[in-house]
Amino acid sequence: MSSATAQATANIAFIKYWGNRDNALRLPANGSISMNLDGLHTRTTVSFQRSLPYDELIINGKEIAGPALERVSCVLDLVRELARTGDQAEVVSENNFPAGAGIASSASAFAALALAASRAAGLSLSEPALSRLARQGSGSACRSVPGGFVEWYMGTGDEDCFAASIAPADHWSMVDCIAIISDLHKKVGSTEGHAVAATSPLQAARVVDAPRRLDLCRRAIIDCDFNLLSGIVELDSDMMHAVMMTSTPALHYWMPLTLEIMKAVQNWRQEGLSACYTVDAGPNVHVLCTEQHAPEVETRLRAFSGVRKVLTARPGGAAQLVQER
Ligand code: PMV
Repeated sequence: MSSATAQATANIAFIKYWGNRDNALRLPANGSISMNLDGLHTRTTVSFQRSLPYDELIINGKEIAGPALERVSCVLDLVRELARTGDQAEVVSENNFPAGAGIASSASAFAALALAASRAAGLSLSEPALSRLARQGSGSACRSVPGGFVEWYMGTGDEDCFAASIAPADHWSMVDCIAIISDLHKKVGSTEGHAVAATSPLQAARVVDAPRRLDLCRRAIIDCDFNLLSGIVELDSDMMHAVMMTSTPALHYWMPLTLEIMKAVQNWRQEGLSACYTVDAGPNVHVLCTEQHAPEVETRLRAFSGVRKVLTARPGGAAQLVQER
């Protein structure tokens, strides 16, 4: 038996990934940029065992079967092919985020799985190769492999479609204050969402304009320019939700409180707070702000009735190996 344990953080996209040009390989319609979220991580142990009849998956102490197991087995199959082994694996995974916090765990989960499974199979993959492997489990997971502020390049095919660091975690002391509005499991997950993105007449315009938004966002990060960042991050989030709302079926992830907080954040910025919002495929609002303004932003978010809790996360590092046996 050979086993390895790895840990990876969740990430929040500044420029979003929504829609694939190849659903099976998870090749995105556009490039994206994100920040890893320190302290919100998944830790996964993979053990390949000759005696196991099939792959087993245990998440937070519960044995999981069905589509979630199949998705994990697909990534394990890629590892088995590379390592030329037929052994089945036991996968034991724990998320440290509060249960039901409404934080997507697929990015941290598949990044940790890619690293743990490849090491347990005796492979030493390069960072791009690991990022490509994680991508095939969940697109955004490829961005949780490198550290800090990360860009996922759309590439021309599987080979050059991976993420790399733009700047390390200590480059900019940014804080993501996450207002948790609902912990309900989303009805339409991102895999189904990506599949219908192209049904929106707005998706083509969103994709054509993506290189411009990526350039501005990359420049804002490199120069630590919060003004530039806030405009482009809010525009990009709104553009993704415009596509979601106009696809078939229409996907409405916002709740009234989501919009209330988005508007409040814009007012706070007028008052001089360095804060901006971004929203993923759910109702919770990520408020990005500078370290200096984080305590004030947190206090203001907690004051909304309907905000169940506020989590805070700072820029996080790369996926890392914790143990090998
Ligand atoms: O990696 P997925 O399939 O869970 O898609 C993530 C989609 C968003 O979170 C909405 C945007 C992003 O770029 O992370």
